Parts: sequence; C-alpha cells; structure tokens
Amino acid sequence: MTSTATHLTLNRTGDKQPISGFGLWKVPKESAADTVVNVLKAGYRLLDNAADYGNEKEVGDGIVRAIKEGVVKREEIFVTSKLWNTNHAKEHVRPAFERTLKDLQCDYLDLYLIHFPISLKYVDPAVRYPPEWYYDGKGPNCTLENITIRETWEAMEELVDSGLVKNIGISNFNAALIQDLLKYARIKPAVLQIEHHPYLVQQDLIDYVQKNDIAVTGYSSFGAQSYIELGVDHAIKCPPLVQHDVITAISKKHNVTPAQVLLRWATQRNIAVIPKSNNPERLASNRDVFSFNLSADEIKSISALENGHRFNDPGFFFDIPIYA
Ligand SMILES: NC(=O)c1ccc[n+]([C@@H]2O[C@H](COP(=O)([O-])OP(=O)(O)OC[C@H]3O[C@@H](n4cnc5c(N)ncnc54)[C@H](OP(=O)(O)O)[C@@H]3O)[C@@H](O)[C@H]2O)c1
Repeated sequence: MTSTATHLTLNRTGDKQPISGFGLWKVPKESAADTVVNVLKAGYRLLDNAADYGNEKEVGDGIVRAIKEGVVKREEIFVTSKLWNTNHAKEHVRPAFERTLKDLQCDYLDLYLIHFPISLKYVDPAVRYPPEWYYDGKGPNCTLENITIRETWEAMEELVDSGLVKNIGISNFNAALIQDLLKYARIKPAVLQIEHHPYLVQQDLIDYVQKNDIAVTGYSSFGAQSYIELGVDHAIKCPPLVQHDVITAISKKHNVTPAQVLLRWATQRNIAVIPKSNNPERLASNRDVFSFNLSADEIKSISALENGHRFNDPGFFFDIPIYA
C-alpha cells in the first residue's frame, strides 16, 4: 500500500498529525529557539519534543517568537512531548506534564507520549532537570521503580479529561505491551512512536498497530546516524544508510537526496517522520518529501535491507532489555 497523504488522522479526536515533522533531540539549547523559528518558516508544522531533550524552554521561546512574527498560529502547529521515565507514578504525571507545558509556553499539547515503558525512581526537578537515566546522576546502574504501565496510562487519560492535552500515546512499546494496554485503556493510544528505518522495519508491529487505528511515527529515519557519537558499536560498524548503494541508486533516479528517499519510504507507507537536522540546507530538503513517489518495487527493495539493527536500545545502554 502506498499513500500520498500529508497528514495522519488520529483516532477519537480526528486531529490531523502532519506526516512530516521535525525532531528536537540534540538541538542545542543555544540554537533551539532560532531552529524552531527556521523550521516553521521552512514549512514544518509538527514539533517533536521531550522533557528529556533538555531544551523545551528554548523550544518554547521559538514557538512564541514564531507566533509573534506571524509565521504560524498556535492552532496551525502540532506540538508533541513525552513523559520521562522518572515520572510514571500517578502523582508525578500531571506535574511533569505541567512543567513541559510551561517550558513550551503552550496552553495545551496536541500529543503527549509515554517516552519508554520503563519506570525509574523519581527525581525531584529541584535536584536535577531533566533527570536522565541515573538516580544519582552518575550511574553506572539505573534504579527501577515498581509502577505498572496501567497506573501511568490512567494518569495520562486524566490529562485528556483535564483538556490540557488532545491526544495521548506511547513510544518504544512492543506489540505485547500494546495488546495488554488495549484491554484496560479507557482512551486508546492515538500514536505509537518507534525507531524505524530500513535496517529495523518492524512490519508486523506496524501492521498490528495500524490495524488497531493507532498512527505510527518513526524516529531515527537515517538509522545509525544519531548513535555513532553515543558509541553504539554496531552503529559505528554498519554501512550508513544515506551512503547505501540501494538508497543512493534510487535517489539518483528521482534526483533527490538519499535522506529524502529514506523519509519517503516511510511516509508513503503512512508512517510519520520527524528527522532532526542542525543544518539549514538539510533541514529544508528533509521537509520536501512530497514532490516524488517511490515505486512499489523501490519500496520493496528498501524494506529488504532489514537486518534487525536496533540502535536505541535501553538493553544495550542501561541493561534494561525491553526488546529481549
Ligand atoms: N521516542 C524516542 O525514544 C526517540 C528516540 C530518538 C529520537 N526521537 C525523535 O526523533 C527525532 C529524529 O531522530 P534522530 O535525531 O535519532 O535521527 P535522525 O533524524 O534520523 O538523524 C539525525 C542525524 O542525521 C543527520 N542528518 C539530518 N538530515 C540529514 C540529511 N539530509 N543527510 C544526511 N544526514 C542528515 C543529522 O545531522 P545534522 O544535524 O548535522 O544535519 C543527525 O546526525 C529526534 O530528534 C526526536 O525528536 C525519539
């Protein structure tokens, strides 16, 4: 199935999530406000944030400035953020959400996701914000907390009841966890956000989720790119997707960049993308994913690059094997 859609329609609300967005992980604080204004000027309408990215205040400055300068109205943009792992207890969900809302300087969010199905010991924001993975800020071990996904999800549902967030969803969940969540959810997840690139296609998970009317957003569309600097061994060793022969041959044929091919491979299959770039030219070209279409054979040959390489794996980084 191929699609030329520019939006994904979310269950329950019917809200339209743009299929091409911008991700804000690793956008430095110092340039985050300017980057946000530039990405909105470049036509992006979906901003993918998280408390863990440590730049929500500066991203909020950018949103406010873009609205003031008449680049966009608030209702024209789709703002996503994510609940961090240390805030899974029911009494911590709302304060964590309110901090994000205040930093992003918004009255409401369009989408709020549980960042990982991992519950870590609470860290008071006055001690460290964002808290990241280690309770003492140093490691080497994470401190897990005994909180169920059900408790966290019910607190997420209360955020919807309060009118402060329109849609809620999940990230880095596998199919078994989603099947369980659907048994008790009063409000079904609107979106699943997962690592998704030709080395990690996860077609069974995507089919299951899309069949259940949950929209899929893929992150790390360029594969290993973001994880090389984090020292992920198999990221350093595997051939970069933007230089892969299969991808570059298709990009030459369509006269687009290899990155655009990787993004189009996802969007044509109804999967939203949220590439990040700190480079103005790449940022602009990554947005142009609607001016060409891949053939069914091209999509098939890209999907055939699957080799099971997962780069964002808490099992690898923190010995918390959620995908084992
Ligand atoms: N839910 C989660 O757990 C989770 C995890 C990871 C990411 N995310 C979200 O997904 C977003 C994107 O993921 P990501 O940052 O891992 O990866 P990405 O967008 O796949 O890749 C970003 C990397 O690719 C480079 N790049 C960007 N455009 C390029 C192009 N046209 N050609 C060649 N290289 C290019 C960037 O460098 P330059 O900046 O120098 O261009 C950067 O090194 C994040 O910002 C975040 O919002 C979510």
